[in-house]
Amino acid sequence: MRIGLIGSGGREHAMAKALRRQLERDTLFVYASHHNPGIDHLADETLVGSLADASAIVEFFSAHQVDFVAVGPEVPLMAGAVDALRAAGVPTVGANQAQAQIESDKHFMRRLLAKVVPWGSPDWQLVHSRKEAEEFIKKVGEVAVKPTGLTGGKGVQVMGTQLLTVGDALDYIDEWLAQDSAVLLEERLVGEEFSRMVFASDEVLAPVSVAQDFKYAYEEDRGLMTGGMGAYTMADGSMPFLTEENLEQADKLMAQVIHALGEESGAPYRGVLYGQFMVTARGIRVIEFNARLGDPEAINVMTLLEGDPAQVFFDIARGQLDTANVHFAKSASLTKYIVPAEYPEQSIKGRKFAFDTAKVEAAGFQVIFASVQAASGDLWETLGSRTLAVVGLGEHPGRLCESMEALLAELQPDTLRHRADIGSRELIEQKTARMAALRRGEQG
Ligand code: GLY
Repeated sequence: MRIGLIGSGGREHAMAKALRRQLERDTLFVYASHHNPGIDHLADETLVGSLADASAIVEFFSAHQVDFVAVGPEVPLMAGAVDALRAAGVPTVGANQAQAQIESDKHFMRRLLAKVVPWGSPDWQLVHSRKEAEEFIKKVGEVAVKPTGLTGGKGVQVMGTQLLTVGDALDYIDEWLAQDSAVLLEERLVGEEFSRMVFASDEVLAPVSVAQDFKYAYEEDRGLMTGGMGAYTMADGSMPFLTEENLEQADKLMAQVIHALGEESGAPYRGVLYGQFMVTARGIRVIEFNARLGDPEAINVMTLLEGDPAQVFFDIARGQLDTANVHFAKSASLTKYIVPAEYPEQSIKGRKFAFDTAKVEAAGFQVIFASVQAASGDLWETLGSRTLAVVGLGEHPGRLCESMEALLAELQPDTLRHRADIGSRELIEQKTARMAALRRGEQG
């Protein structure tokens, strides 16, 4: 098979590893915003260009006569690259431009959900003035402030977390009103977050193991929001703080949204839908949707995906997915991103460091490259964002966390850091106890 892939981060390195599993059979062509040493190692050719340039993307993949293209990041989806590839006859795994609004326009998402699953949203309102915002806050109490467009996961701020007073919230709302003339306010939800992704090929859906992502920069969810510092999954594919009913409701809701996106856009949904949910004492609610695999969650799930991922993606792209071919290892998984010590406050480029990837692999883990390039000798060099990740599979995230921490204590240079708490047994037990307390009506 001749495989096409768009993107150059950790998510795409994990996708490339899975898609290129049949080394003898397949070839891989990559269109990327920068060279990723892990992807370059697997690719027959990489072209660096703008991810928003749909014409260049079509030209590259048409020239290589690929059988299908898998899209990693959101930018090409929103730029219409999927529409252009399909128009050129290239089957593609990714949302078209109209469908990608589920991610790019939070107001579109809330309106669509209000039509198909009204109970799935917290109380929300698009406000155009400080006065409207004050009235909404008076009505619902604490809110999350959400710019309607894309902010790289860093624009949302929540009262009680980043916004400590009503005045802080109103000032932040004013900032976005000055820029966008409207901002979305949502009732603040209390509970546990989880990520449910689903492979969708027309109306055939294959749910992916549930993951929990950690967006905050530092342990105990302190500091600024990041693209995601790591994620874990459990061996049973769910989370200990979720009931079967919670998960069934999430899957049913996703199916209804995929159906609605197909109807509204006039084209079947062939790609990945990512639901970011909060389970609360009142049941599950949607925080947001992404029209793609999450990052870091993709690193977990692409590592867990067994069998022939290239065939699965080819089938999704052609609307011929057979769910009997989608298997995930019955293991837990843990991914931790390693980032420059100053991330995300500063973008540190060109910092050279040593990292013994052979030792990581000898310990049973895999290295996923992201915002990094090879420097001279055995050194690597940061490109500014999340540098690289370590991922492993095992019986329980807690056990994986212990051995990953021992390994990183030995290998990680002082100029880089990661979150030690992600996946620890103690953290997972705390989350489960907190959710149980919420269900009993206690504050947790
Ligand atoms: N992990 C969240 C995201 O990919 O947006």
